Amino acid sequence: TLPVIVDCDPGHDDVFALWLAAGHPALDLRAVSTVGGNVALEHTSRNARIALTVAGVTGVPVAAGAAAPLVRELETAEWIHGENGLGGPELPEATVPLEARGATELIADTLLAAEEPVAIIATGPLTNVAILLRDRPELAPRIARIVWMGGSTERGNATPYAEFNAWVDPDALDLVVRSGVDFTMVGLNVTHRALVTQAVRDRLAATGTRTAAFGEELLEFFCRTNDEVFGMPDGPLHDPVAVAVLVAPEVVTLRRTRLDVELAGTETLGATSVDFDGMLRREPNAQVAVDLDVERFWGLVETAVANLA
Ligand code: BDR
Ligand code: CA
Repeated sequence: TLPVIVDCDPGHDDVFALWLAAGHPALDLRAVSTVGGNVALEHTSRNARIALTVAGVTGVPVAAGAAAPLVRELETAEWIHGENGLGGPELPEATVPLEARGATELIADTLLAAEEPVAIIATGPLTNVAILLRDRPELAPRIARIVWMGGSTERGNATPYAEFNAWVDPDALDLVVRSGVDFTMVGLNVTHRALVTQAVRDRLAATGTRTAAFGEELLEFFCRTNDEVFGMPDGPLHDPVAVAVLVAPEVVTLRRTRLDVELAGTETLGATSVDFDGMLRREPNAQVAVDLDVERFWGLVETAVANLA
């Protein structure tokens, strides 16, 4: 089993990412950190703890990180995720506690305590990961790889050309991509294939777990808002696709390429430039997801949800 840390901003799809990381036997979830993104940090931190509480996951430390991006103001996405970030179900009390230490401290401690390099799965703006690499560069060799949901090889979802996580903190993305740590981008070009169809919802509900029942209420809300905002009634469940890269590498096809992020554009801030054709004649610096085995992906999520409370 692969040791992993999940850095997230729950968010409906982040919850499923946490569940896949906690519930699938291929991964060993060592820590969870939260960042301001879909909603403010106080909400994402509580929501991460609720996600673990509902799933019956205990003993995984949760710490809050950056409330705002490295240099820009925080932009949030209440129109997709609701005012509290987890619109839909009635939210239970989070019995999983919040650590007194901050996110970068928790990640650093987790990396130092591990007997082997640990992978970081990031499903929100990369602010926490960037702060860690900026302030504790000596820890880079202890990070096995970073797999991030964000960006796109095609169009965006926050602006015409920028995906939300990239757009919220493009400076963090830039720092992380330049850090030299093995980096994988799982963007909208593949996550838009992870569609929550009625068949998917039936399949998850059939596991009969409390986690699945809570998840069904999340999905109902998420599909409704995705229909309203994007005309996608089968909402794309972005974040667990990044987790799938580590759970079952054969499910997500990756391509090695050059990746850069727009930091200065007047209309394209946060757009990811993916140079598949080598036009820029720069060294490849990342892996980018280009295909998804949709059936097997949902099988992984189903297995995880069935294993949880
Ligand atoms: C990403 O943005 C957030 O709203 C989702 O949780 C996901 O991480 C998709 O663009
Ligand atoms: Ca997210």
